[in-house]
Amino acid sequence: MSDTAKFSIHGKDVEYPVLSGTVGPDVVDIRKLYGQTDAFTYDPGFTSTASCQSKLTYIDGDQGVLLHRGYPIGELAEQSSFMEVAYLLLNGELPSQGELDGFSRTITRHTMVHEQLATFFRGFRRDAHPMAIMCGVVGALSAFYHDSTDIRDPQQRTIASHRLIAKMPTLAAMAYKYSVGQPFLYPDNSLSYTGNFLRMTFGVPAEPYEVNPAVERAMDRIFILHADHEQNASTSTVRLAGSSGANPFACIAAGIACLWGPAHGGANEAALNMLREIGTPDRIPEFIARAKDKNDPFRLMGFGHRVYKNYDPRATVMQKTVREVFDALKVNDPLFETALRLEEIALNDEYFVEKKLFPNVDFYSGVILSAIGFPTSMFTVLFALARTVGWVAQWNEMITDPDQKIGRPRQLYTGPTQRTFVPVGER
Ligand code: CMC
Repeated sequence: MSDTAKFSIHGKDVEYPVLSGTVGPDVVDIRKLYGQTDAFTYDPGFTSTASCQSKLTYIDGDQGVLLHRGYPIGELAEQSSFMEVAYLLLNGELPSQGELDGFSRTITRHTMVHEQLATFFRGFRRDAHPMAIMCGVVGALSAFYHDSTDIRDPQQRTIASHRLIAKMPTLAAMAYKYSVGQPFLYPDNSLSYTGNFLRMTFGVPAEPYEVNPAVERAMDRIFILHADHEQNASTSTVRLAGSSGANPFACIAAGIACLWGPAHGGANEAALNMLREIGTPDRIPEFIARAKDKNDPFRLMGFGHRVYKNYDPRATVMQKTVREVFDALKVNDPLFETALRLEEIALNDEYFVEKKLFPNVDFYSGVILSAIGFPTSMFTVLFALARTVGWVAQWNEMITDPDQKIGRPRQLYTGPTQRTFVPVGER
């Protein structure tokens, strides 16, 4: 017999079903609560609230486990490609070789953007942050691709999904090129998804560009590590925006805006800036002390996570990838040593141990991205590029969910009660 949750409110006993997923915490189905008791639940930050059902991604934060459609992130990062993971997230199963080739061909066919978008870019100030550009141009895609904005048509949804995944690298590279004043490069569809992105970013029309296979592999892995992460803030933003029936380009633009914040995707940029500020390991204790000081707003960036109360499994892969990229490019950034030492000191400090604060995906990613040649302002753009796969997959899942309704939370009102208006001259 299935479990129920019972409690008493306003002198009334109520009982709600407890639902179980395939794995993970049960949820109390309180959908009838307001109708039956005239009370809401209060959960700012959604720390105890499941906002939807999903088959895509499972996280066990205590154990440090991350699964996409059941597959551990470590195995996917080691053995698959970003295109395979994109297919898996969108379709539920790993592709056969034929399916993967077909999917990659389809994505490749959508890599170019409408020529007028290049003009659109020129409206931005030269010093615009690339995330500001991304918020604008991704939202603007809905003005260029009218034929894939009818969300009730499954075929249009599929085309919009493919377009978004395919065009993000092109737009991200254009945002970079615009910021450094170099000409945009058209995609070269003979290259892989990731190789093409590297060429559009670091190539110039005047010279042939050779993709470094080790860098291509590392970048592809970084994309895999960022592809999806359950109902995080930006994904929930995409779902909430989409719940009103907004078109997918607008929804992904909303996700990009949310991702930009330093508590979310902006943390990779903030983490590297922090490491640069720390500089040498001898200054670590000073920053650890600041992070622990309640009167100082400073936090160790790239540390802590709402869900992981253990080592973020993505950080493990990321740390390994740093060494691979350094070997491939024959570089050695002393900031990596600072990062390793900072991790060691923090993990042995009572404050971090007690609060279960571990390195997250953003702690090491900046060191790698900087070694590859990206300026810090591009870090969150790369996160957005990869997370577009997750956003699109989650958006599709939401649209086809029979329980889907417009997302409309309620509140605990603490403002004034009704009062009489006083005309301005009498106040
Ligand atoms: N440095 C120092 N103290 C911290 C940190 C940190 N990085 N993170 C959390 N704490 C403390 C915090 O002060 C609080 O202490 P107390 O209980 O005494 O008030 C306690 O730990 C719990 O923190 P919280 O802010 O209530 O936890 P949260 O789940 O709301 O926040 C977080 C999670 C990721 C926003 C937070 O850990 C943080 O700000 N980390 C730094 C930013 C960062 O690295 N973000 C990337 C997250 S992973 C990638 C992504 O999802 O985008």
